[in-house]
Amino acid sequence: MDKKVAELLNDQINKEMYSAYLYLDIANYYDAKGLDGFANWYEIQAKEEMDHALLFYRYLHNNDAPVTLSAIAKPDKTFSDLMGPLQAALEHEQYVTSLINAIYAAAIAVNDFRTTQFLDWFIKEQGEEEKNSADQITKMELYGADPRSLYLLNSELKARVYTAPSLVLD
Ligand code: FEO
Repeated sequence: MDKKVAELLNDQINKEMYSAYLYLDIANYYDAKGLDGFANWYEIQAKEEMDHALLFYRYLHNNDAPVTLSAIAKPDKTFSDLMGPLQAALEHEQYVTSLINAIYAAAIAVNDFRTTQFLDWFIKEQGEEEKNSADQITKMELYGADPRSLYLLNSELKARVYTAPSLVLD
């Protein structure tokens, strides 16, 4: 595998682990506010991000590329209101999309079509992740100011259940 592509894929393990940590921090914020549905949503997000990290890890090993694990940064966002984490999540997903796109571009530059095919799943996933994040902001704008509506929104988010990613690498 091309060295640059392998490095970017390796870095992405860390970025996905950081994403998990950021979402656990957001779950932690909502848990402390008594919003267990919001907390549930972001706990599941954290699990999904760890799944993503493991997919990059497994892809590198399956292709005989080296894996180096580095320190995961401390989540450094501070939230002043219930909307804050939702905006931070959307910005973060947009950032992750830019990272996936950069790996994709590096893979295309060296005709590494196996890697672009692997990344196709993530390209689609990022579209879903950005949409979900944006939808949450819209709902919070519409309903967040009214306690009864917020209660219903929290109940909706509490119903989310974890499902393993549809992409599986043996
Ligand atoms: Fe792994 Fe939410 O992107």
